[in-house]
Amino acid sequence: LYGAERPNSHGVDLSDQAQLAALLDGMREVQDRHWQAAPLIGGVSQGGTPRLVHEPADDTRVVGAVIEATPEQAGQALERALRAFPAWDDTPAAARADCLDRAAELLEADAPLLLSLLQREAGKTLADAIAELREAVDFCRYYAARARADFAEPQTMPGPTGESNRLGWRGRGVFVAISPWNFPLAIFTGQVVAALVAGNAVIAKPAEQTPLVAAYAVETLHRAGVPVDALQLLPGDGAIGAALVGDARIAGVAFTGSTETAWAINRTLAARRAPIVPFIAETGGLNAMIVDSSALPEQVVADVLASSFQSAGQRCSALRLLLVQEDIADKLLTMLAGAMAELVVGDPRDLATDVGPVIDAEARAMLDAHAAEMERSARLVYRCPLPEATARGSFVAPQAFELGDAAQLEREVFGPILHVVRFRADELDTLVDTVNASGFGLTFGIHSRIDATVQQVLARVRAGNCYVNRNMIGAVVGVQPFGGEGLSGTGPKAGGPHYLYRFAAERTVSINT
Ligand code: NAD
Ligand code: ALA
Repeated sequence: LYGAERPNSHGVDLSDQAQLAALLDGMREVQDRHWQAAPLIGGVSQGGTPRLVHEPADDTRVVGAVIEATPEQAGQALERALRAFPAWDDTPAAARADCLDRAAELLEADAPLLLSLLQREAGKTLADAIAELREAVDFCRYYAARARADFAEPQTMPGPTGESNRLGWRGRGVFVAISPWNFPLAIFTGQVVAALVAGNAVIAKPAEQTPLVAAYAVETLHRAGVPVDALQLLPGDGAIGAALVGDARIAGVAFTGSTETAWAINRTLAARRAPIVPFIAETGGLNAMIVDSSALPEQVVADVLASSFQSAGQRCSALRLLLVQEDIADKLLTMLAGAMAELVVGDPRDLATDVGPVIDAEARAMLDAHAAEMERSARLVYRCPLPEATARGSFVAPQAFELGDAAQLEREVFGPILHVVRFRADELDTLVDTVNASGFGLTFGIHSRIDATVQQVLARVRAGNCYVNRNMIGAVVGVQPFGGEGLSGTGPKAGGPHYLYRFAAERTVSINT
């Protein structure tokens, strides 16, 4: 279905000087643009008092302004979406899918604009921004292809008594899509287009830190043919999300964000005297990687660096807990510190930058407080120096601490801070049990050249995405369906063949012929 016939987005080849130069020229032309976002209800931008959006890399630089939605506007958006739902649901699945394919083309055509915005609003390096744009495009094309394959025609079921039995799929109603700031384009777009192509009307509530990218994505989907009333945008904080989730008329919630917020949404949904609706939650992780003494140290170091510090560690998939067999720990940690010393921390617009800022001052304060706590209870392995030029932004130095015990790390620390623990060869099963005991189950990695060890660990670990002898980030749509277990999410996996079904209602029609 998806592969040779419909390949993933090609992105940009950064080693091709001509391609890179053209892209950078395009990005320079739009780098001073003042972006705007506002509640978009029935395709009409609503007025209000704007709040300025600053760059995480430099809080003196303004990216644009956002007008946040009021609770009354949330009600208006819901009314319009409810009215739009039946006609959109009656639109053939193939025609809905065409909108997604057109959106993919528009997103790719706007690459310089979007990459510039992702760098400025979300602090993404160019490589991260390109990867994110590709993922957004892939979600559109993959879900379009799946909808054509799965929803276009009802499935004929057996008719043992002579009846005709057909199983079809319909939209459920109005879906609320609530997204985080760390993939403001890819996750935002992925949730929205999945719900739309399954036949639902959608109210999108992006993260308060990244409304400008979201507004751009919604306008793109409208340009691609999604009716303006079938997709409404409500920028705002968690209270707007909570108001929507608490409304008895919504038909489902697609949420990506922290486990704490998922619990809050679950409570709100449970308190409604209303139909019990699907709640798709993709949440946090306390992701571990086991490295035994047979692993290739050079490859481990490269993969740990990417898994822990790419995107400034602000990926749900990022490595938080590195478990190293004691025989090789000293050597590996020396190599890791040496490699960390080469990381360039700085302005994401600088091509040489490896690690950009964290999202805002609040995130920085939380991470700095955690690092201070680690200094008291753990051993500092290495901390990258922060260049002076980072003083005006929300930067946190990539750093690694060695802990005495894996159980010491109890919660997700969402940034470029790695925790390392040594283990003995005879402790492998207990170690995996400790990882499982955290209750999270998002990503997991193992580096070992002993196949029996790999199989032993994979059979025991409970995590949604397991990576062997490679890094743990960057799951590819349609190739590595992504999502966690336990505290890390409900499933189904984003970018996987079963994702759309959760957004749709099954309907059986039996005809006495
Ligand atoms: P967050 O939970 O703080 O916010 C996510 C969204 O929920 C935002 O739009 C926010 O406004 C909204 N929200 C907050 N309170 C709400 C409430 N009571 N009701 C309804 N909506 C509410 O998360 P974040 O800081 O934006 O994102 C980082 C988190 O997301 C990390 O924990 C990370 O692991 C997780 N994440 C998970 C995945 C995944 O696929 N599993 C992907 C990306 C990020
Ligand atoms: N899907 C993203 C990754 O795999 C979060 O890194």
